[in-house]
Order: sequence, then structure tokens, then C-alpha cells
Amino acid sequence: VEPGLLDRHGRLGTDLRISLTDKCNLRCTYCMPADGMDWMPPPSLLTAAEVVRLVDIAVAVHGVRDLRLTGGEPLIRPDLEDIIAGVRAHHPDLPIAITTNGIGLTKRAATLAAAGLTRLNVSLDTIDADTFRRLARRNRLADVLAGIDAALAADLHPVKVNAVLMRGENDDQAPDLLAFALERGLDLRFIEQMPLDGDHGWTREGMVTAREVRDLLSQHWRLVPDDVPRGGAPAELWRVLPLDSDADSGSGSGSDSDPNADPDAVPSSRTDAAEPLGRVGVIASVTEPFCSACTRTRITADGKVRSCLFSHEEFDLASAMRSGESDDVVARMWQQAMWLKPAAHGMERPGLDSDDYVQPDRTMSAIGG
Ligand code: GTP
Ligand code: 5AD
Ligand code: SF4
Repeated sequence: VEPGLLDRHGRLGTDLRISLTDKCNLRCTYCMPADGMDWMPPPSLLTAAEVVRLVDIAVAVHGVRDLRLTGGEPLIRPDLEDIIAGVRAHHPDLPIAITTNGIGLTKRAATLAAAGLTRLNVSLDTIDADTFRRLARRNRLADVLAGIDAALAADLHPVKVNAVLMRGENDDQAPDLLAFALERGLDLRFIEQMPLDGDHGWTREGMVTAREVRDLLSQHWRLVPDDVPRGGAPAELWRVLPLDSDADSGSGSGSDSDPNADPDAVPSSRTDAAEPLGRVGVIASVTEPFCSACTRTRITADGKVRSCLFSHEEFDLASAMRSGESDDVVARMWQQAMWLKPAAHGMERPGLDSDDYVQPDRTMSAIGG
């Protein structure tokens, strides 16, 4: 097999995302329907050994450099520690991350770290308990917040927080979320909602755009573009400074209060005015797609390659492995799947969204974020 997961458009798949389950203990409206999910039959899910074998092939044959385990909710898998430890045993230097809702981390952050987890991203769209219950359709905010604290206590730095804003639902929460993140030293990223929900309820109007997020936050803080090169990373990063700071000269105005700012939303611990209070990221997946720089390759929980969140074909690596095919054959199938990766999702073109864009059958929860 020629190495590398190259596609027709010249991109190389070097970041592997493996979903471990389609199940979740929350039902976030943008990701899953309230009920009526057709769960994957348990025997179809990749076993720990199969996950380890796929990572071995990805790293050894295709030069994959980065692994993220997702779901559904990856902590639903009781063998998550075994999976991480199994991968870690073969790949001492591979970054291994998870994307999680945080529930259960109080019990497992330390064991995950010991198994070899490098870092994690937690999804959190509000710090208001009522809003959380409406959006996630479960009353679990306290568990998520405790999970974040547990991750920090287990030294799983940096802890990133992903927030999806929906108009009229939780967009008013943006400043509170950022104040919360700044206080704890979390890397908060706001993500534009993509049409991957179970109810087909996504609308362009309901989506809070990256530009709107910047405008919302700019009422409370001064945002300065971060100069770190972005590469294939989805988030555009901003340094967060107090509103009254002057980033260029490094001298603050000295005034500590802004008449327009909501006092509750402003972080209490202000340092020197020129020192950023932290960073915030905005992932403009819809309005400023990063498809041309995409380096992702995804495996669903039932072992199929998805070249793209929005692709319509899948290649069944689990069946190939289970029918006794060699690593070479599996590696070649993976390559064939990636070759067909779409150039882009096309959603950024206003007006074409209903015609040009066909929502995939799988919801976000079944693709794996
Ligand atoms: P980091 O390495 O920590 O930056 O991880 P990540 O941001 O790649 O992973 P995460 O699972 O936290 O995903 C965050 C968000 O990025 C998702 O919610 C999506 O909105 C967006 N995203 C992830 N993968 C893709 C992708 O392949 N295409 C698009 N358009 N957006 C994606
Ligand atoms: N649009 C954008 N982001 C989404 N996520 C889940 N569903 C959507 C969607 N429809 C986010 C979650 C999670 C990440 C993997 O994907 O917030 O953090
Ligand atoms: Fe890459 Fe597809 Fe995501 Fe675009 S939509 S960034 S091509 S995976």
C-alpha cells in the first residue's frame, strides 16, 4: 500500500477521529432527537482491540499523527480506559484526546489520565441550569461542571470547552460562558451550529454566526486576533483583554468599569490591562468553512470510514476486519474512502442551502462530532 490518506483535492488525512458509541446520556437538540433513535446494535460497535488495530494501521501505514475519541458520549464505554491504554502501549507519543459532555469525569478523569489520555474537550452550551435542561433535555449541569473541575484537577490541560449557540435559546449566555471559562483557565470555543441535528430543525436564521459571537463578546471584552498560525485547526483564536485596555501600547486606561458592560459577566480577577485574560476561539464551520485545509479522517462507532462529516458514502472497515482481511487490505479500503472526500460542504453559500445541501442520514451523535 502506498502510504497516506490522500484525497482527490490534495488534502492528506492526518487527524483521526474514532467514534466509540452513538449513545449519550444527554439529548442536545442540535445533535440528537428527543427519542426514536435507532441505536447501533452492540455487536456492531468496534471492540477495544479493533480500535487499537485501526489506530495501528492509521499510524503505521498512513502517517496519522493525532487521535481523538468521540461519540455519542465516549465515557459511555466502560472500556474507554482500556482503549486508551491499548493505543498508548503501541504509540507512546501519539496525542490522544476525547470530546465528551463531561458527565462521569468526577470518577474517571484520573484513571483516564493514568491510561494515557493527553487532553479533552468538554461540550457546554450554557452555565444556566434551566437553559441546560432545555437544550440537553436532561438536568445534568452540575455533573458537567463537576466533571470539568475533575479534568482540571487531573491535570488534563488544556481543557477546551465547546459551545454551540442557538438564537433565542442560549445566545444570551455567551458572556457568562466566557467569564466562566476565563476564571477557570479553560479554552472556550464557540461553534456555529451545523445542520446535523436529528429533527432537521436547523435554519440559517437560527444559527448564531461567528461574526455575531465576536460582536456579542466585544460588548464586554476587547478581542484581539491571536497571531498563532491556524493550520488545519478549526478555531480562529482571539486574545481576550479587558474592554478598557490598549493592546498596542500595553497601557490600560486605568478605569475598571465599563458603563455598558453587564457587571455579572465581567471576570472578577482582572490583571494588568495588557495581559490577556485568556483566549477564546470561534469555529465558523458554516460561514467560513475550513474544508480546503481539512486533515480529518473519521471512523464511525460501527467501524465505517467517513471522509467528511457531510459525506454520503461510508466504507465498512469493521466488516473487512471481521472477515479476516489483512492490514494491507484494510489500509487500502481506508485510502479509497478518503480519495472520495468531498471538496467542501457548500453550506456557506446563502440561498443554496436547501438545494445544494443534502443533510446526511446520520445525526452528529452517530457520526462523532
Ligand atoms: P481540537 O484539536 O481540540 O481543536 O479539536 P477539534 O476542535 O477538532 O474537535 P472537537 O471534537 O472539539 O470539535 C469541535 C467542533 O469542530 C465540532 O463541533 C464541529 O463543529 C467542528 N468540527 C469538527 N470536525 C469538523 C469537520 O470535519 N468539519 C467541520 N466543518 N467542522 C468540524
Ligand atoms: N453543529 C455544530 N457542532 C455540533 N456539535 C454537536 N452537534 C453539532 C452541530 N449540529 C458539537 C458539540 C461537540 C462537538 C464534537 O460537536 O458541541 O462539542
Ligand atoms: Fe473537511 Fe468535510 Fe469538514 Fe469540510 S465538511 S471541513 S471537507 S470534513
